[in-house]
Amino acid sequence: MAEDYDVLVVGAGLAGMRAALAAQQAGCTVAIVSKVYPVRSHSNAAQGGINAALDEADSWESHAYDTVKGSDYLGDQDAIELLAREAPAAIIELEHMGVVFSRDEQGRLGSRNFGGASHARTYFVGDFTGQALLHVLYEQLVRSGIMTFSEHFVTRLVHDDDGRVSGALGLDMRSGERRMWTAKAVILATGGMGRVYEPSTNALICTGDGMAIAYRAGAPLMDMEMVQFHPTTLKSNGALISESARGEGAYLLNRDGERFMQTTAPHAMELASRDVVSRAEQIEINEGRGVDGCVLLDVRHLGAAKIMERLPQIRALALEFAGADMITDPVPIRPGMHYEMGGIKTDVHGATPLPGLFAAGECACVSVHGANRLGANSLLETVVFGRRAGEAAAAYATERGPVRRSPSLLDDESRLLNLLLARPDGIRPAALRQEMGQTMTVDVGVFRQAETLRAAQAALVEMRERFARVSVGDKGRVFNQALVSVLELDFMLDLALAVVAGALAREESRGAHTRVDFPRRDDAHWMRHTLAFHTPGGPRMETMPVAVTRWQPTERVY
Ligand code: FUM
Repeated sequence: MAEDYDVLVVGAGLAGMRAALAAQQAGCTVAIVSKVYPVRSHSNAAQGGINAALDEADSWESHAYDTVKGSDYLGDQDAIELLAREAPAAIIELEHMGVVFSRDEQGRLGSRNFGGASHARTYFVGDFTGQALLHVLYEQLVRSGIMTFSEHFVTRLVHDDDGRVSGALGLDMRSGERRMWTAKAVILATGGMGRVYEPSTNALICTGDGMAIAYRAGAPLMDMEMVQFHPTTLKSNGALISESARGEGAYLLNRDGERFMQTTAPHAMELASRDVVSRAEQIEINEGRGVDGCVLLDVRHLGAAKIMERLPQIRALALEFAGADMITDPVPIRPGMHYEMGGIKTDVHGATPLPGLFAAGECACVSVHGANRLGANSLLETVVFGRRAGEAAAAYATERGPVRRSPSLLDDESRLLNLLLARPDGIRPAALRQEMGQTMTVDVGVFRQAETLRAAQAALVEMRERFARVSVGDKGRVFNQALVSVLELDFMLDLALAVVAGALAREESRGAHTRVDFPRRDDAHWMRHTLAFHTPGGPRMETMPVAVTRWQPTERVY
């Protein structure tokens, strides 16, 4: 089946829904295609909050500076200035849509401290902020009447004869039917690729599909080596224990009960930026001052009432998956893969270098996070740059003439999927996916060096060869999850190779990218973004300069 729209949005998390609403408000016909039902998107999992300089004693300049410093000067400062300037209006808009933000004693929007911020500017709903935002935007989506194709998996982009992106091909997961959507502009808002690592705080659906289809279509992936390791994840399953705990005053302790952040970040302590805290934890663990491969997060001094009011979700998570009740016990935690700060290169309007293709949210790299994202800037990015991408895609679509539809593409894609289904019994994808994830965690983790990165690269190339013999166990059409996971694995292998290529190319340590063989930040050579281009033989790397508006790099101290 085929459908025609002005703007097609792929992904129904916060960035996708905000983009779709903006494009429709600009007068376009819009459809959303999503692998899952919108309220099951991974934006749901964002816990701690959303940043904005709303308080009179705060300023957008201070928010922007903290973000630039947090990014270890790799963030593009023109984009960061926009993010910080547009943040207050974005929060007020969400509040007016119906988000019930937590309040302070005066009944005003309440804020909490978050890592790397010089002011308490994180607005929140308990410790389930993403869920609250997602449901409110979903209400807006339902009200808008925008056509939503849930449980549809996009497999590739479609181009017109003139090279412009003009739609997408995919699979109706419910029936197995192949589908084509024709559109004058396509916005990718498919979220992150956390599951390239195992474990990860990310949902199982975070397989980087949008990044991979854009990459294969010729769009560069920027700064893919910049993988954020969140300082507080559970050992048992990698689940996120929100930074809100440290925002509310939690301590990080080593085996001897010492607050080890004293040495690394004497002023900010546990609220230093995530790269700094994760490194400090990993050093405690590596040097034998950890507890069974972890350090301890202690909130007992906050008292039961505050824990139950402000941190109910993470208390339940720790109880369920670590058997630790935060009210009475410290919780063992360690750094874990949380967020991809790189992604599809875009400008501040969400436009990629491919005409007709836009991107927003975690799959995009605009770049506001640079080498280290500040907590609670990601929810902000989804709504600010989701809206901007929706508006820009609508303007592009309005200018563009009719798009030519080429039904034979649908037949070609069907043939490819049928060939995959027809492969004889071979390697099962689950084991290969696990192997890829563990390789990334061990060899491309908090600390990296050429030797381990090359080992990871060789292992991934060999996995890519084995992938050619992967078979799909289920030959059916209806909800063939086995087929979807093979397609996801194909995407993830490309992305893993791009992360490693970026990490090998960047011969310095900056933000979350710590090369033990190049321990210093090298501003003379590396105030530059890496760009990975897809080729059949693996990523081809280029670099481009960082946009600096007013803040020159200086030493980063917390
Ligand atoms: O720790 C957290 O609540 C995560 C927030 C974020 O990644 O922005």
